[in-house]
Amino acid sequence: MERLQKVIANSGYCSRRKAEELILQKKVSVNGQVVTELGTKISGDDVVEIDGQMLNLNHDKVYYLLNKPRGVISSSKDEKGRTTVVDLINCNQRIYPVGRLDYDTTGLIILTNDGELANKLMHPRNNIPKTYLAKLAGIIDKETIDKLKKGVVVDGRKVKIIDFKIKKKDLQKETTYISITIIEGRNHIIKNLFKELGYLVDKLTRTHIDFLEIGNLGSGEYRVLSTKEVKRLYSK
Ligand code: URA
Repeated sequence: MERLQKVIANSGYCSRRKAEELILQKKVSVNGQVVTELGTKISGDDVVEIDGQMLNLNHDKVYYLLNKPRGVISSSKDEKGRTTVVDLINCNQRIYPVGRLDYDTTGLIILTNDGELANKLMHPRNNIPKTYLAKLAGIIDKETIDKLKKGVVVDGRKVKIIDFKIKKKDLQKETTYISITIIEGRNHIIKNLFKELGYLVDKLTRTHIDFLEIGNLGSGEYRVLSTKEVKRLYSK
């Protein structure tokens, strides 16, 4: 027996907090009866519906690591009919991406139907580091490096920079390649961070999510996460 809001979150429908709101808004029913009490315990045999839509509680859990190409959208559906990351995975389950990469950002993204792990990886409290390789227009100067060391404020909040490394300065092309590790997932955070410092991000790739790395996954290629890797992510 498990608490209803946890079962809803685990199904991948939404976060636990959102599930609590839905329960209080009388949108959730169990075996045909509307439930309004938080913490109601249910079993795997119970039928849970939200706004009349039945939740799939008995699915096998699947986990994929995709090297997202440029020009693909990080969601399950796109109203404009563009290719989504889910379209690239050959899987019969209803999976969704964990977090987002911009349309023009490439690199690592996890897709799963395991809501509990997805919520865990996205919650800032769990401090999951993500590393990006950014190609900047311009040559990074000492003053900017000092600012990166001190931490940069974006939209009123300081971005926690775990590490950064200048990979290459191309004086002829006037570009800098920098690898940077952060733990937060605000939208466009890397682009906005460098914008704050006066640099345009020309290209962006996510190279690592915690211990997971691109390895030899080509653009658009994916692999299944091993049981060991899933356990390691759960232990965060
Ligand atoms: N930061 C960005 O600016 N874009 C991404 O896609 C990811 C992080």
